[in-house]
Amino acid sequence: MNRAAAFRHKHRKQNASSILIMRSLYLVSNLTLLTLLLASCQNDQKGQGEVSSEFSPEIKESYMSKGNAASEALMNSLSTQLKAAMKNGGVLAAVDVCKQVAQPSTEAISTGLDGLTVSRTSLNVRNPENAPDDLDLGVLQTWQDLDDQSKPIQPKMFSVDGQTVRFYKPIYTKELCVLCHGPSDALEPKLLTMLDELYPEDKARGYKVGDLRGAFKVEMNLNKLDPAEPSIHK
Ligand code: HEC
Repeated sequence: MNRAAAFRHKHRKQNASSILIMRSLYLVSNLTLLTLLLASCQNDQKGQGEVSSEFSPEIKESYMSKGNAASEALMNSLSTQLKAAMKNGGVLAAVDVCKQVAQPSTEAISTGLDGLTVSRTSLNVRNPENAPDDLDLGVLQTWQDLDDQSKPIQPKMFSVDGQTVRFYKPIYTKELCVLCHGPSDALEPKLLTMLDELYPEDKARGYKVGDLRGAFKVEMNLNKLDPAEPSIHK
């Protein structure tokens, strides 16, 4: 049993208030969880890519569509697993899912499409492994500046090195997200303790509904991916 699971286990056994938390989160999950998570994907429009003119419009469109599909697949996979965890073990269990699942998901989602990885990044990361590189940073900063004026922000795509393109799509904060990404003083105390323990450098707090939380980042290797092939299959 890992640390997080041990923590959850211990508190589930010892503290009756955990049951209250579980119940209220069960309600949340019943009423809104999936809707809220999926709502993040509703503004899927195939936006104008930023790749240079080396690609024909058809090829550009094909990679944009793969990027959109991969972002949705990650969101759907996470939401399904979050929902199940919340039902079974409450928000603390859901944190465990985010921790254990988020990173491997970036690989697992690529199943069926060799040469594609999808991950998440943000200007304020919880896990330092999700920290933005220079290209990510440019996109995120531009979007942050734009954020007040134009919503939703459209996806972008960049040519990285002639063999790789990167697709970015904004992730907005929904009501559900605030449970774990809201201001510290609004987080459930046990959750706060757990987050402090797991992510001592956590910057992903203080968000409110509607805030730009970060970006999906889909990296595609053009040598491996056939643009003619349809989008990702689960
Ligand atoms: C149960 C708690 C929980 C909920 C609910 C939650 N998150 Fe997170 N989130 C986490 C944890 C834990 C991580 C760190 C995952 C990892 O280790 O990669 C994370 C990471 C992220 C990241 C990756 C960047 C970073 O900060 O490391 C993004 C983006 C993100 N969450 C957005 C969202 C959005 C949008 C929602 C709502 C749809 C949401 N989260 C709901 C706990 C949660």
